[in-house]
Amino acid sequence: MATTLSDIPKAFIKGIAHSRIALLGAMIVTFIAPFLIGAILYDLILHIENPYVAGAIYMILGPGFIGGLVLILLGLFFSKGQEDVKLFTLAYFRDKLADETGYEKIRKLVFLGVFLTGVNLFIVSLLAYSGYHYMESNAFCGEVCHVPMTPEYTAYQNSSHSRVHCVECHIGSGASWFVKSKISGVRQLYAVVADTFDRPIETPVHGLRPARDTCEQCHRPEKFLGDKLVIKDKFLPDEKNTHVKTVLLMKIGSAGDQAAKSHGIHWHVAPENEIIYKAADWQRTIIPEVSQRTEMGKLVTYRSPEADEQLAAATHLQERAMDCMDCHNRPSHVFLPADKAIDGMLLTRDIPNDLPFIKQQAMEIVTGKEFATQDEARTAIANGLTEFYKKNYAAIYANDRAKVDQAIAGVQTAYQQNVFPEMGVQWETYSSNIGHANGLGCFRCHNEEHEAPSGEVISMDCDTCHTILAEDEENPEILHTLLGE
Ligand code: HEC
Ligand code: HEC
Ligand code: HEC
Ligand code: HEC
Ligand code: HEC
Repeated sequence: MATTLSDIPKAFIKGIAHSRIALLGAMIVTFIAPFLIGAILYDLILHIENPYVAGAIYMILGPGFIGGLVLILLGLFFSKGQEDVKLFTLAYFRDKLADETGYEKIRKLVFLGVFLTGVNLFIVSLLAYSGYHYMESNAFCGEVCHVPMTPEYTAYQNSSHSRVHCVECHIGSGASWFVKSKISGVRQLYAVVADTFDRPIETPVHGLRPARDTCEQCHRPEKFLGDKLVIKDKFLPDEKNTHVKTVLLMKIGSAGDQAAKSHGIHWHVAPENEIIYKAADWQRTIIPEVSQRTEMGKLVTYRSPEADEQLAAATHLQERAMDCMDCHNRPSHVFLPADKAIDGMLLTRDIPNDLPFIKQQAMEIVTGKEFATQDEARTAIANGLTEFYKKNYAAIYANDRAKVDQAIAGVQTAYQQNVFPEMGVQWETYSSNIGHANGLGCFRCHNEEHEAPSGEVISMDCDTCHTILAEDEENPEILHTLLGE
């Protein structure tokens, strides 16, 4: 039987009509294709803002379209014994290829196949291109999984990295981490759907990509040099909310390159000073043993006096090469402790700092008890402050009501940016390892107890990391000197 061009669409249609699977596939494809193409083009040109709409396109319509195509092909290819359909069946191909002139016969068929595949590939690659961008977007990471990601997404938006995409720290470039992230993404999606995710989300992230491939794409501690002036503003819990300052000269140092030898705080991340530590708990707060490979390649091991017991009692023993994240564990998800959150708002005057006792009252309410929801906290803040000023500062409450209301709004904001009771995040659930004010931080190792066989200890000398130029002073002399006054 000669195959003419007009036989092909006929056989195609009949083929589809005869195979239920192919018919189902064709219906799906026909139904989805116009919406899908329209939506992708709209997204590419005008950009879809709503993450749920984009999610519906890339996570439902897209896979649906591809699934439909697969059904058509399977249905056609494996339909047996249907004379009209034979053009597309496995048996037909086998026959024709076995026969000398066979190729000639199926050439047109191959041509149509290639044409249709071309069209489909175009749609699929558009889909892959914009779907990939969607999956890498902050909206997808931060908003689609709305409840579980609220704390991290909120803290992220308030951080200096709010323009760095989640994926630049969490995935980085390269195919293997992309695939890894998609596999763990499927697990996470399941946890969201089944509502089995942790509250709070566990930290540290044990599978986080090493900093070399993420942070160090943008920051180069080899190029850091010198010291940095750090001024910490605080407000005391007295009637005047006395504003005091701590001034530190932070020995940022350098990881060293041709121009500078490694020194100071970033000495730890110099390639020649590899530091490997053993942690006994999941959070890595108990560190019984620290080894340092020196420039000469010698290994020096510092151990805490209780190292043996701590290692034996370890709940999650792990060995880790120190990198940026061991100190900068909150580069982007910065959850402040209550006093710093309130101080920050007083400094920017989002909470009026001339309202008597506002620091003290705010702290009492937000740390007095743990609230079950943000709404409950908002109400308690509003009621507590209103009551206090009505009772103790009736004149202010009567004449300057706006100030009290502004204070209420400021304290509510400070709370809502850092505490997420619905996700199990209270004050200091996620503490920072930078410094030693909230949690042990540097003092996990720098406690003068970790001792090397030579008797040397990891230094806790207050001048190792910073010079304290003023501490909690109202009007530090040093700032006048620096300003040339
Ligand atoms: C500047 C780099 C950076 C960016 C950008 C970033 N993260 Fe993170 N994120 C981290 C680091 C580092 C940790 C792990 C802290 C640890 O292991 O101690 C982390 C931890 C997390 C955690 C675990 C819980 C926690 O707080 O430790 C979640 C969830 C998370 N990030 C989500 C996101 C989302 C969503 C975005 C984008 C909206 C994002 N991250 C953007 C660096 C980043
Ligand atoms: C895509 C580039 C990029 C990546 C990746 C990145 N950062 Fe940053 N980082 C920046 C930029 C830009 C700033 C400055 C922001 C500003 O000052 O407005 C910054 C600021 C900082 C600061 C100083 C300000 C602060 O918030 O304390 C630290 C510390 C820092 N980054 C650490 C890290 C760490 C640790 C990682 C890896 C987990 C990382 N960064 C990943 C771009 C990046
Ligand atoms: C031993 C702990 C430690 C390690 C490891 C570490 N840092 Fe830092 N880093 C600090 C401290 C402490 C500061 C100063 C914080 C402050 O301003 O109070 C700092 C400051 C910075 C700053 C801001 C510099 C400035 O001049 O404002 C950047 C950016 C930074 N680190 C990036 C990195 C990167 C990238 C890595 C990994 C390659 C890294 N750090 C490893 C402790 C560390
Ligand atoms: C995992 C253990 C560990 C942690 C955590 C750690 N360090 Fe260190 N650090 C060491 C070791 C080991 C040395 C080398 C011994 C020494 O000089 O006391 C060192 C040395 C230093 C030095 C002297 C570097 C030089 O010029 O010789 C500074 C400064 C320093 N650390 C700052 C910090 C700061 C700041 C933090 C917290 C943000 C911190 N370290 C956290 C292990 C640690
Ligand atoms: C291993 C390094 C290291 C050592 C040793 C160290 N500090 Fe610090 N300290 C830091 C870092 C880093 C910060 C800054 C934290 C930040 O930027 O929030 C800090 C911050 C401070 C602050 C300001 C806290 C605040 O938020 O107001 C004071 C005060 C301070 N240190 C006192 C001391 C004293 C006193 C000693 C000696 C017992 C000491 N430090 C030893 C690393 C160190």
